[in-house]
Amino acid sequence: MSIKVLFVCLGNICRSPTAHGIFARYVKQQQFDHLINVDSAGTGDWHIGKAPDERSSAAALRRGYDLSVLRARQVSAVDFEHFDYILAMDKKNLRDLQKMRPSHFNGELALFLDYGNHGELEVPDPYYGDGEGFERVLDLVENASQHLLRQLIERHHLVRGIA
Ligand code: 4NP
Repeated sequence: MSIKVLFVCLGNICRSPTAHGIFARYVKQQQFDHLINVDSAGTGDWHIGKAPDERSSAAALRRGYDLSVLRARQVSAVDFEHFDYILAMDKKNLRDLQKMRPSHFNGELALFLDYGNHGELEVPDPYYGDGEGFERVLDLVENASQHLLRQLIERHHLVRGIA
């Protein structure tokens, strides 16, 4: 049985695909990809089927993360049946997800940055801002991804696969 992690933002073209790509890379690098599945989605429907925002893709690629295979999708009720961890980028995303949460969901629905140690709670939406916003997203996501992976390994007693 694998642990299933879903990252959620508004459009699924900036923040959550960045988290998806970075966290999946760490999971693979540390040889836990047989035990942890990663996905991302947006609460909104405007960008369904689109590749990540070019600014996010370019910023991620400069740090060695390739987001090019990812395509946006909208979060749905079925996701609460499938995922163990549903992690929101900001408080509005979390509120929207809480409204969808079925009473029998016994996974974790939380802010992604609950796992970070940057002292921030939200990954700010970079969509309408300047280039700095995309770097900030990467900094916050890299930090929280490292902590999230460490916590999952501890909490679920995960054992590294064979390379
Ligand atoms: P994301 O960023 O939620 O990080 O993917 C946004 C993408 C698109 C829009 C807003 C935020 N939009 O308004 O279209």
